Amino acid sequence: MDVRIVDSYDDLSEKAAEIVAAEVKQNRRAVLGLATGSTPEGMYAVLAGYHRDNKIDFSGVTTFNLDEYAGLSREHSQSYYYYMHRHFFDHVNIDPRRINIPESSSEDVVRSCREYEQKIKEAGGIDLQVLGIGVNGHIGFNEPADSLDVYTHLVELAEETIEANSRFFNSRDEVPHQALTMGMGSIMHAAKILLLASGKNKARAIQKTVSGKITTAVPASLLHMHCSCTVIVDREAAALL
Ligand code: PGA
Repeated sequence: MDVRIVDSYDDLSEKAAEIVAAEVKQNRRAVLGLATGSTPEGMYAVLAGYHRDNKIDFSGVTTFNLDEYAGLSREHSQSYYYYMHRHFFDHVNIDPRRINIPESSSEDVVRSCREYEQKIKEAGGIDLQVLGIGVNGHIGFNEPADSLDVYTHLVELAEETIEANSRFFNSRDEVPHQALTMGMGSIMHAAKILLLASGKNKARAIQKTVSGKITTAVPASLLHMHCSCTVIVDREAAALL
């Protein structure tokens, strides 16, 4: 695990965007695993800027998002489908047919999860997976538990996650309690992983993640077993290291 501490959120966003851009420049058909939440917003803004300045072409890129709330329509302003278009897809020349986001409204969720995994496989696997981290150490929506799921699945969100994400909704009651998420195996199969964390509320989760102990109580700690995992944290998130 290669941990890099940067001074500020802006630096984190720049560094993360540089890593994603380098991946796409080296392989215009790159397959990117993408994350939502407030952490990667700055990274998407920088990438959109690169595209505007003709520095990067996303036309051959395929994307797979990590997760999606269950029970929100795609048009809902808090769905991850909506987020991804607002922060990234609407600002770059990505081919809409190459965008993949878990289909949470499907009647047959199990099948929809299986098909998602199949699509990742058919795309040749994920070259670079971007991750945020929850205050409880979750990645995607793989919440701390005695055991973790390997593949894309329906999950009950942890109370800490509902609480943390309530800031995006009018009230806590509006936060969905379930989501579809890529599993730990879907994430760990990516060729490279880039984990981002910003702010003092992530300091404890980052400390537990990089401490060197692997436990399903901190799903991000499993990233120690990945052979190419870069962690970029700002000073606040690194406060306990
Ligand atoms: P955040 O979410 O970027 O909004 O803090 C990260 C996560 O929960 O994975």
